[in-house]
Amino acid sequence: MNPVNHVAIIMDGNGRWGIKRKNSRNAGHKAGLSVVELVINESIKQKIKYLTLYAFSTENWSRPQKEIKYLFSLLESFLNKQSDELHKKNIKLKVIGRKNFSLKLNTLLSNVEKKTSSNKTLQVNLALNYGSKTELLNAFRKLNKKKYKITEKNLIKCLQTKNIPDPDILIRTGNTKRLSNFLLWQIAYTEIFFEKKLWPDFNKNDYIKIIKIFKNIKRTFGNV
Ligand code: IPE
Ligand code: IPE
Ligand code: MG
Repeated sequence: MNPVNHVAIIMDGNGRWGIKRKNSRNAGHKAGLSVVELVINESIKQKIKYLTLYAFSTENWSRPQKEIKYLFSLLESFLNKQSDELHKKNIKLKVIGRKNFSLKLNTLLSNVEKKTSSNKTLQVNLALNYGSKTELLNAFRKLNKKKYKITEKNLIKCLQTKNIPDPDILIRTGNTKRLSNFLLWQIAYTEIFFEKKLWPDFNKNDYIKIIKIFKNIKRTFGNV
């Protein structure tokens, strides 16, 4: 049986869920937040070590200002309310992506990262203002500047995911089969699960089912 060390999730479908239920995309974002908590708790139960959540892409800046503002206010209140709880659960929070938000949010994120930096149970990587192409370009620039040899090992050290093993499982909810600029290098050998349900409808059983299927897949990594 395959061990599950790292799960990455593209949490998609909030807007459609919100429109359908409450005629408001933002209502979907709010509902999606409780699924985040549920997945974090189940990951701990399953002894998963890394959980990477795609929360805001570099492309999401093209959304209406009102929606962007709401998303970051949700994140702010989540961190304010939950950071003690995350710490108590021995969760380490790490942001991947460039922190170029308001001074208040940047500080809040850095403080939670600092506070939880030695926690060991589960590392939650929050992909915020994250884009895989930007990440790769910055890595190449760094290699070039430091005159490092272009090797796989050196490149990995320059990614924002350095020290994080590649995901075993990638889940995308929301009935869309694309990667939307997420971890393009890191998922070279990841098992991908496209889930029809919208993110706010995704539940513990859906998550457990995917883990169970993954555990029984024959992973060959090019071998036979
Ligand atoms: C994903 O849900 C959440 C973020 C991108 C922040 P969407 O907001 O993309 O929801 P849909 O895909 O429009 O339904
Ligand atoms: C991907 O979802 C980004 C996040 C879930 C944060 P999008 O809804 O932004 O993806 P596209 O634009 O439909 O590909
Ligand atoms: Mg979407």
